[in-house]
Amino acid sequence: MCGIIGAIGNKNIVPTLIESLKRLEYRGYDSAGIAAVVNHDIQRRRTVGKISELANSLASSPIESNVGIGHTRWATHGKPSVANAHPHASDTVALVHNGIIENHSSLRHDLEKKGYVFSSETDTETVVHLITDELKKGKTPLSAVKDALKQLEGSFAFGIIFKDSPDTLIGAKKGSPLAIGKKDGCVFLGSDAIALSAETNDVIYLEDGDVVELNENSITIYDKNDKIVERELHKNVISGDSVGKDPYAHFMLKEIYEQPIAISKTFASLMTSNRNIDAAKIPVDWSRISKITILACGTASYAGLVSKYWFEQLARIPVEYDVASEFRYREAAMAKDGLTIVISQSGETADTLAAMKYAKEQGQKILSIVNVLHSSIARNSDIVIPTLAGAEIGVASTKAFTTQLTVLLMLALNAAQNKNTISRNALQETLAAISDLPAKIEAALQESDSIKEIAEKIKSANSALYLGRGSLFPIALEGALKLKEISYIHAEGYPAGEMKHGPIALVDEHMPIVVLAPSDNLFDKTASNIQEVAARNGKVILVSDTEGYKKLSDKAADSIIVPSANKNVLPILYVVSLQILAYWCALKRGNDVDQPRNLAKSVTVE
Ligand code: G6P
Repeated sequence: MCGIIGAIGNKNIVPTLIESLKRLEYRGYDSAGIAAVVNHDIQRRRTVGKISELANSLASSPIESNVGIGHTRWATHGKPSVANAHPHASDTVALVHNGIIENHSSLRHDLEKKGYVFSSETDTETVVHLITDELKKGKTPLSAVKDALKQLEGSFAFGIIFKDSPDTLIGAKKGSPLAIGKKDGCVFLGSDAIALSAETNDVIYLEDGDVVELNENSITIYDKNDKIVERELHKNVISGDSVGKDPYAHFMLKEIYEQPIAISKTFASLMTSNRNIDAAKIPVDWSRISKITILACGTASYAGLVSKYWFEQLARIPVEYDVASEFRYREAAMAKDGLTIVISQSGETADTLAAMKYAKEQGQKILSIVNVLHSSIARNSDIVIPTLAGAEIGVASTKAFTTQLTVLLMLALNAAQNKNTISRNALQETLAAISDLPAKIEAALQESDSIKEIAEKIKSANSALYLGRGSLFPIALEGALKLKEISYIHAEGYPAGEMKHGPIALVDEHMPIVVLAPSDNLFDKTASNIQEVAARNGKVILVSDTEGYKKLSDKAADSIIVPSANKNVLPILYVVSLQILAYWCALKRGNDVDQPRNLAKSVTVE
């Protein structure tokens, strides 16, 4: 999704803008640009494609300035092109925008009637002309921005510079995230702490309705009532180093291999020193919760769907699960004394935020699981449980997913303990299994080379099926999503038992069918489904433990061995092999693993 950056200071800030844009690449983008004030003139460079193109354009035609803005664009209104790339500018003002201006058509119509000429198809350009119009009335940059904002409907984070005020950079936020930082005579604004990571140790997160005026040495924030306010300073936990990918070829691969440590840290953060769940970190009286509603998007939603099995089986609490984009408009009736669990890596996904708002209005208590601590979802929740995955840069989520699962399993265990629906032994066994997970994941990752060979065989497939049962059905969905996202092979996740009601018609000798079949109580059922596929010459890729492999490998074209483990942790373990399979398929097809086409890391628009 679009990323913005701005800087003002006592030195040439153009190299900083480029560095920050590189750190924003992970959000997904198709064009980029910068603008800066040079001798009372606004200069811009904009390119389609990677930041390296923009850097090349600057190398051949350099800009030096003490104030500027930059942008990575993920196209919404208008195709990726230089004309549609940000910053957008008039002869007096330039700005970058993340969000959507919903009333842009009527604004554009009115501005065109006044004689303003548009050079792009974007919703953003209306704001440039609105501010220009206010400036023409003799207003200061700050007043012009404030008055222009009053005319906007939709969501935005802006960075704005002015030809005639080279000592001023203005930011504004409503709906989309905006952070501010300061270091050594320079002040910065950016979409997230990652954008600011190399520049600042402390970060301020703006609230909705805030407008900020930045000068070389000062930060002045006005709230939605136009009162000057102080906002809390937070440590920027993202260091410049933590966003590098060395020694791995890709961020996704690095993040897959970071899962043992990320899970271990997340688990430890919810345990006491005497190996019990730290109830103080989970302030929920589960015996009073009549129903849990789980809301999320994409990969995070599959973590939620896995936890439905855990909460229901372990704690006997009814669970409703929905993707946030559907939930927000379906006017769901919500249970009295219900708990809504919201799951989001970024904490900024627009649909998830809107669904959460609806749940809140319905009187639900909100517990969120987020990876970005000071994100909008975290700030609007009653209870926040962080995943300690560290910065996740690869667009395809991996370590955020397995740490979300870790937190959710701990919550379900805590609920079960609270409600006396689990024996002490079963509880201790599952906790021990979570504690053993890092080692088991490392063992699963040892299979990477043989998974690479399987990827070579299936890389040209047009379509793939992923089958699973019980809590591994959502892992089939996630495995299929990973393959789609980065290899662009069509894939579908299906409950194994449903295959005979439709997908079996697709089975032929070409389509890979990945079957998740651990030796658990459902093994025999899944084994029957494998027989059904094999009888029709289907190409089964069996994912199982050694015991399952012994029983079924003769029916499979290929097998991936996963260590055996306690039933409750299997979803966390099995997904790792599927991440690796998708990674190798994508690489063998020559795709950009970290920035797959059309996808954004954090989707801050509907
Ligand atoms: C995008 C990303 C996915 C992610 C989803 C939800 O689609 O590409 O990887 O799962 O958003 O994001 P969130 O930050 O809310 O977990």
